[in-house]
Amino acid sequence: MFKILTKQELAQGTVVANEIHAPRIAGKARPGQFIILRVNENGERIPLTMADSNPERGTITIIYQVVGKSTALLKSLNVGDTILDIAGPLGQPTPIEKKGTIICVGGGTGVAVLHPITRGFKQAGNKVIAIIGARNKDLLIMEDKMKAASHELYVCTDDGSYGHHGFVTDVLKAQLEKLGSEVKEAVCIGPVPMMKFCAKVTKEFGIPTMVSLNAIMVDGTGMCGCCRVSVGGETKFACVDGPEFDGHKVDFEELGQRLTAYQPQERQAMDLYQRKCSCSS
Ligand SMILES: Cc1cc2nc3c(=O)[nH]c(=O)nc-3n(C[C@H](O)[C@H](O)[C@H](O)COP(=O)(O)OP(=O)(O)OC[C@H]3O[C@@H](n4cnc5c(N)ncnc54)[C@H](O)[C@@H]3O)c2cc1C
Ligand code: FES
Repeated sequence: MFKILTKQELAQGTVVANEIHAPRIAGKARPGQFIILRVNENGERIPLTMADSNPERGTITIIYQVVGKSTALLKSLNVGDTILDIAGPLGQPTPIEKKGTIICVGGGTGVAVLHPITRGFKQAGNKVIAIIGARNKDLLIMEDKMKAASHELYVCTDDGSYGHHGFVTDVLKAQLEKLGSEVKEAVCIGPVPMMKFCAKVTKEFGIPTMVSLNAIMVDGTGMCGCCRVSVGGETKFACVDGPEFDGHKVDFEELGQRLTAYQPQERQAMDLYQRKCSCSS
């Protein structure tokens, strides 16, 4: 059992941050790694990135968007409640080393996944330029943390309610035009279309680009094959070979299609969950 120590609602309650007591996982967690949790004995296994970890406090932090039944169930838990099981750390840690100038681009909840990676690159002695975006100002998360984790931060909103009016790709392109080959790597994490278009921009400039793939996962240990992705024409398992891959080689169309494969069942599960909640309240 894993106790929830803090709960904070972000982006008008659509995103939740929980600090959870998990000392054995916290002692081993590295940037880019994730956990798989099950809220209760009937719960499905869902993967979430560790947005932070604190070995001294014995805690990990998850930041998740409420998109369906399992994340809604997780949000219903309060401080002092417990999560039945958490497996981790899973996946390959981000390869962080001193390279020069790095651009870190995050969209939506992808910013939570990007934060420890951005901080890691700064701590390794790189100059880090961060670009984050959201649909509007109210949905933007972790601006202060990303400011502290980078040397320069640019904020974008699709509707222009805050920062640059437009997409993160506009600012990414402008930075690459300004800095050229000074940029040694780009890390882009967010919705699939965002990662796809970021990788398209960086390819034009020949900048190596890492993306983090949110494929549907079940076991998280390379056995079920559910998280198959195509990278450079080869089949990889996002859970054990990733979740980070070369963005110039990922088949984003296939990833997008696989992510929507169970939408009717997901909608049905959410409807049943909401009906059950309204009956018991
Ligand atoms: C390695 C990894 C790290 C992730 N980290 C985060 C994170 O830090 N914060 C965050 O908000 N989200 C993260 N996700 C996505 C998160 O796992 C899904 O949003 C969650 O599983 C949705 O479950 P649900 O029941 O609430 O929604 P559902 O209604 O069941 O699904 C909504 C959508 O979420 C995706 N999804 C559903 N089930 C799974 C599953 N078992 N595995 C992966 N995706 C699924 C599908 O695209 C689906 O259409 C991560 C995914 C992966 C693979
Ligand atoms: S989640 Fe089963 S192989 Fe990756």
